[in-house]
Amino acid sequence: MSQKLVLLGATGFMGKAVKKILSERKSALKLVSEPGRVSEGDYPSGAVVIDFSLPHYCLEQIEKHRGTGLFWVVGSTGWTESEQARLEEIAQSEWILRSTNFSWAVQSLARVLRELRQTLQPLGFQCSMTEIHHTRKKDAPSGTAKTLAAEWSPEQAIESIREGDTIGIHEIRLETDSEVLTLRHEAKSRELFASGAIDTAERFPSWAQGKNPHGLVELSDVIFS
Ligand SMILES: NC(=O)c1ccc[n+]([C@@H]2O[C@H](COP(=O)([O-])OP(=O)(O)OC[C@H]3O[C@@H](n4cnc5c(N)ncnc54)[C@H](OP(=O)(O)O)[C@@H]3O)[C@@H](O)[C@H]2O)c1
Repeated sequence: MSQKLVLLGATGFMGKAVKKILSERKSALKLVSEPGRVSEGDYPSGAVVIDFSLPHYCLEQIEKHRGTGLFWVVGSTGWTESEQARLEEIAQSEWILRSTNFSWAVQSLARVLRELRQTLQPLGFQCSMTEIHHTRKKDAPSGTAKTLAAEWSPEQAIESIREGDTIGIHEIRLETDSEVLTLRHEAKSRELFASGAIDTAERFPSWAQGKNPHGLVELSDVIFS
């Protein structure tokens, strides 16, 4: 049975990657609408919406379509504190999953860092983080870097570098005077994230079946459950 899909940000780099993968992959998702600045398009009841646009636009669309049984897979980054708070409030009654990174390797990296914090932080290890992205990227630090930093400390500093067409590099150094442990992830293609968002969108409605929304859904809940 096919699952209807709405795509926000369809004209962008990520939106195009989603469409490319859907055209190549045998998926239950059927793209029915690409809302944009000119045409609003349709949001069929019960559809999955993949968002790779901008937070304020995505939030506006979520507000507009409350109560219509949609499943939101939100990938846009750069949410302000007030936008984030509003999203969390709406997620008490709507199905919304937000992830700053749809790579399973990055999801695993966050878990590893959580474990490393427990053992290495008490031993005096200091953390430094750097993220490198293309020069068109609107937000800094990246959403992924903020997610990873939060695993070590709320005050963790992040160095942001913008150069060329770099898709996304995140490097974490855990260091004492006598040793250094480096964790590094490099995205080689945008299709990595598009593919992860599609996998998530395919699984989200069946994962949610029989449950009620009670806040933002974690990607790991849907993927690793
Ligand atoms: N979670 C993840 O794994 C992940 C991975 C990569 C990127 N991202 C995030 O995904 C987002 C999109 O990235 P991208 O590289 O595809 O960006 P992009 O190429 O700039 O595309 C942005 C898209 O949003 C649309 N848009 C912008 N302003 C809009 C508005 N006011 N109303 C309606 N549509 C609007 C653009 O439409 P126009 O064509 O009309 O401008 C375009 O389709 C960014 O926030 C990025 O950080 C997330």
